[in-house]
Amino acid sequence: MSNESSRKARELRSAASAARGRRNFLAGALSVGAASALARSAFADPLKTAPGTAADHVPARGPTPPIAADKKLVPLAADPKAPVPTESASGLALPALPYPQSALEPYITANTVSLHYGKHHRTYYEKVNAAVQGTPLSGKPLEHIVKESAKGGKDRQKLFNNAAQAWNHDLYWQSIKPGGGGEPSGELRKRIDKDFGSYDAWKSQFITIATEHFSNGWVWLVLDKNKLKIVDTHDADTPLVRGRKPLLVIDVWEHAYYLDYKNVRKDYVTAFVEHLINWDFVAKNLG
Ligand code: FE2
Repeated sequence: MSNESSRKARELRSAASAARGRRNFLAGALSVGAASALARSAFADPLKTAPGTAADHVPARGPTPPIAADKKLVPLAADPKAPVPTESASGLALPALPYPQSALEPYITANTVSLHYGKHHRTYYEKVNAAVQGTPLSGKPLEHIVKESAKGGKDRQKLFNNAAQAWNHDLYWQSIKPGGGGEPSGELRKRIDKDFGSYDAWKSQFITIATEHFSNGWVWLVLDKNKLKIVDTHDADTPLVRGRKPLLVIDVWEHAYYLDYKNVRKDYVTAFVEHLINWDFVAKNLG
């Protein structure tokens, strides 16, 4: 073979090798892109994630999923409009609503739930995760963070506010359900009759305290030394750090009702009591 022929043969082999390389690269990129799209779609579309945790739907092989498999992740709400839970490989995840955002209508509209849960509640979680990152509280359960940050110290106040608000809202969404309200039954009803005189007395007291609570805060049914009580707390404060067992809570911050009821908080509180309270959840908390 002449020198000229040898040179051309080397050039042809080199060109063929480059073409194979490009094909392999493109095939790999397509595979990664498709897997990434599949992973993203599994998290972005709640309809594709039930039942089980979102992490169940991460492809077994492929690139690192956008959300790490985290035991704290919870099933997404069935409502396709429901926000995707806050994701973090090391942080706390915003729990999914136990019902679709529109399920509490007409008493609490989807518009209010979207803002209240999707913005306010989510932001508290995000601020907690940012605050504990790189500290001994990173990776700890939310309840632990609330209790630790409540122990005082000027630098802990901001963390307590956000952690307690996250925890209080968790309880709030579970305290209500579509088709709730009415009168409790069983052992819980007996305890209410014993400690308040009657259900009607309890209802009247709860509505009055929640309506008249000044400014932002929460109104709770708690177990205090084996006795049921109604207590109210201001801002982010919570009975969780005051030696009382929270059983039920209503959020009386304006963001909880203002879009639906404007300044008429009593109508919101009354609707909460008569149509939304999840008494089964309250009874379970009572134990
Ligand atoms: Fe709230």
